[in-house]
Amino acid sequence: MSDKKYWENYYKDLDKYNKDFLKDNWMNKYKKIICSVKNNNAIDLGCGLGQDTQWLTENKFNVISCDISSLALTKLKSIQPNANTMQIDITDDLPFNSNSIGLVNANLSLHYFSMDITKKIFNNIFDILEPGGLFIGRMNSNKNNYIDKNCEKIEENFYYNKLKEKHIRLFDEEQFNSLIEKWKVIILNEDKTIRRGREKYTWEFIFQK
Ligand SMILES: C[S@@+](CC[C@H](N)C(=O)[O-])C[C@H]1O[C@@H](n2cnc3c(N)ncnc32)[C@H](O)[C@@H]1O
Repeated sequence: MSDKKYWENYYKDLDKYNKDFLKDNWMNKYKKIICSVKNNNAIDLGCGLGQDTQWLTENKFNVISCDISSLALTKLKSIQPNANTMQIDITDDLPFNSNSIGLVNANLSLHYFSMDITKKIFNNIFDILEPGGLFIGRMNSNKNNYIDKNCEKIEENFYYNKLKEKHIRLFDEEQFNSLIEKWKVIILNEDKTIRRGREKYTWEFIFQK
């Protein structure tokens, strides 16, 4: 189910990723809330090249940067030699103790899965966070025009792109309802950003255990 091959290829063209063009510093506007977390053990889930890892580290978090792509992690290490990286598949159980983490970030890394798997991931994140801990991140909005003739529908708002060999999920506000029953919603906000030179609509969220 995981698109490991797609992600390894995505990060193959390393020179392309030496630039900061993925970095939109989306967390700046939530800095006060994020930095109010007392336990500074943080996980960056689906960290990619570690833009958010860098932001969190600069804001005093001890971050473990996790991704399915070993190439992304190697590149991250070349940019941030002190980074603590771990290759994991988010769809498996998370290798962290219950109630041990203050903050989990998943920036644009949890919109590739069926609803059942997405629920499992949300529950696993809930488990590793300490009470009061924050789960922050962003998901694709369904305002993005990403579905084309190469996309096979698997379930509502969930597709497989046969050409790219990659899954994609789009979110509207309602879809969060079944995921966040156990969570306190601090922020759930639709916004627009620029990534890789193009406009992108995202849901930004901060949920509290
Ligand atoms: C769109 S990128 C976002 C990367 C980074 N968070 C950022 O903001 O640039 C999605 C990331 O999720 C990772 N990813 C996708 N599926 C994964 C999985 N099953 N387990 C772990 N990481 C995964 C990809 O390798 C990729 O780095």
